[in-house]
Amino acid sequence: MADYKFGIIGVGTWGETHLKAISTQPHCEIACICDLNEELLKQRAEEYGIERRTTDYKELLADDDIMAVCVVTPDFAHREIAVAAAEAGKHMLIEKPLATTVEDCEAILAAVEQAGVTMMVDYHNRFNPAFVQAKAAIDAGELGELQMMSLRLSDTIYVPTGMLSWGGMSTVAWFLASHCVDLLRWLSGEEATRVYSVSRSRVLKSMGITTPDFFHSIIEFSGGLVAHVDNSWILSTSMPTVFEFKAEIVGEKGTLFADCNSHRMLQKFTGDEAMYPDVAAQPVVQGKPVGFTIESIRHFIGCLIAGEQPAVTGHDGLMATKIVCAIHDSAESGEPVQLA
Ligand SMILES: NC(=O)c1ccc[n+]([C@@H]2O[C@H](COP(=O)([O-])OP(=O)(O)OC[C@H]3O[C@@H](n4cnc5c(N)ncnc54)[C@H](O)[C@@H]3O)[C@@H](O)[C@H]2O)c1
Repeated sequence: MADYKFGIIGVGTWGETHLKAISTQPHCEIACICDLNEELLKQRAEEYGIERRTTDYKELLADDDIMAVCVVTPDFAHREIAVAAAEAGKHMLIEKPLATTVEDCEAILAAVEQAGVTMMVDYHNRFNPAFVQAKAAIDAGELGELQMMSLRLSDTIYVPTGMLSWGGMSTVAWFLASHCVDLLRWLSGEEATRVYSVSRSRVLKSMGITTPDFFHSIIEFSGGLVAHVDNSWILSTSMPTVFEFKAEIVGEKGTLFADCNSHRMLQKFTGDEAMYPDVAAQPVVQGKPVGFTIESIRHFIGCLIAGEQPAVTGHDGLMATKIVCAIHDSAESGEPVQLA
């Protein structure tokens, strides 16, 4: 019998990453999964050998044997489940963004504090080897004082039109800029003070999906760092990867460039298809998933077992949400938004 029992709420695309990570972790068991989609629920339960499944998250939370839950529902559907999970005394790993309003984040944080449970927000790029090494170089003073950073994280148009059923109910800023702003805060140790963002809604809108095509955002930070964050949801599907992720980090004494998709470790060309297969996020080695997206989930489990505070706190989740709210507000008003 497993020592640690988990529940997963939301077993869609990213919920499967949680399924892979926890089902292959020694001494851990997924006791129950929950999703509104019964067909998907049945498919996941059979594939991962999970006995109990439910469409009602409250039923999962009522199981006293479950010590922790993963909340992997759409961006805007975290609050109600997270607050109920905290009230049920469950530790929790919540997918990014923590929530899509500051009020929702604060309600989750208050419930977590009241219940005394441990919570982590799954900003897994803090486990991405490229950024882990960038952070080590920055912290060791190799770059000197940070001057500017440029992060470009975008998806092909397949993501809002084909992969996500709820693309029109979220934005590329919630889905991708949230990763970037968390990285900026973490890498620099600075807080955002002013945000100016421009977006356009043409391509996706013409396809009946009412969400912006892209956001170009300039973010100023408390220590003088200026960042440019570029996020689009309309890249061509003929790209060899579903996403593009590039970073430029410039300090007074040094420069770092990161290329997280076309890193050339493996390139595959078959027939008419060009692919850069995943070698870092969650490749399978000896039948088990490895990689930084798995590592962040394992980190959460390790912290629960050791009684330690996870690397990404609820406060981090709240701060990232505040910046992404400012990105939306600025894009809508056409004016820079000042942050406290
Ligand atoms: N897809 C990715 O590449 C990716 C990567 C990292 C993080 N995320 C994050 O993970 C979260 C989920 O994204 P996804 O891509 O897996 O979406 P998805 O649509 O594939 O899966 C979400 C699932 O949640 C279920 N759901 C919705 N409301 C529910 C409820 N009240 N109770 C139970 N189940 C419910 C849906 O039926 C669906 O199956 C989001 O916050 C997203 O930003 C996604």
